[in-house]
Amino acid sequence: MRILTGVLASSSALLSGVVGSASAACARLAFSRVSYGRAYPSSMPAAACKAAASSSAAADADAGAQKPWLFVGLGNPGRMYKGTRHNVGFEMIDAIAEAERISVSSKQFKAIVGKGLIGDVPVMLAKPQTFMNASGESVGQLVAYFKIPLNQLVVIYDDLDLPFAKLRLLPKGGHGGHNGMRSIIDHLKQSRNFPRLRIGIGRPPEEMGAISFVLRSFSKQEKEELEMTFQRGLQAVRIMVREGFNKSATFVNTPQPLEMLNRCKSPHIASKRRVDY
Ligand SMILES: *[C@@H]1O[C@H](CO)[C@@H](O)[C@H](O)[C@H]1NC(C)=O
Ligand SMILES: *[C@@H]1O[C@H](CO)[C@@H](O)[C@H](O)[C@H]1NC(C)=O
Repeated sequence: MRILTGVLASSSALLSGVVGSASAACARLAFSRVSYGRAYPSSMPAAACKAAASSSAAADADAGAQKPWLFVGLGNPGRMYKGTRHNVGFEMIDAIAEAERISVSSKQFKAIVGKGLIGDVPVMLAKPQTFMNASGESVGQLVAYFKIPLNQLVVIYDDLDLPFAKLRLLPKGGHGGHNGMRSIIDHLKQSRNFPRLRIGIGRPPEEMGAISFVLRSFSKQEKEELEMTFQRGLQAVRIMVREGFNKSATFVNTPQPLEMLNRCKSPHIASKRRVDY
């Protein structure tokens, strides 16, 4: 980051004649602090504007050209899959969108996306419409186009290995058998270094296969329990963008008092055998 800043500062010095006016033209960008990548005013050369935006970022520590966070919820498109376990990522995105009044309604790069602010931090919310196992086609393009730093890409998805309604936030990791995550890692050139918020859906009953389990809907009682999980997830997202990933991970991953009490009662997930789903 320091090296990058240095380079940008010296290249903008070369351009200083241009930069004076460029700064004014870019004021709107700097003020709103939203830099979604290519939203430069059309009246000026993109390069000059970019230099101006970057030099103001350098001057203003990291605050100026703030890159958005990209929160991606995984699921399958279509009515048939609505409300199923495999779509719990979509539901978490809907909960964030509603609470933060971000309209998630435009179609871009095979996803339904919405852009907005949480506090004064720019965020994008996305629900890939590719079908689960091709989610990476959408996510890879969103990340590349909007130049999202991988540590600000947060993928939200259903996890068979976590007890029902439990959340876990990790900075990186494998796909754990999840077809959506597998596709995303494939399309990020095998990088696994992006955060993920996993939502526990529990394990299928003995007689049921993983696929049929994840494509089943939640019961009424499960839905109620999940509402609390979504509220907690929303808190986690707010902490993440305002106070950083680590604070949020501590918030999410530290067992709650009730969990501690119930720990000896709750059935441990018996088999850690990996299943693909
Ligand atoms: C996704 O799954 C569908 C149906 O199971 C299959 O036809 C398709 O080839 C898969 N696509 C990818 C990218 O794996
Ligand atoms: C976050 O936590 C990780 C691992 O615990 C640590 O290496 C890293 O320095 C922390 N980052 C910040 C910004 O505190």
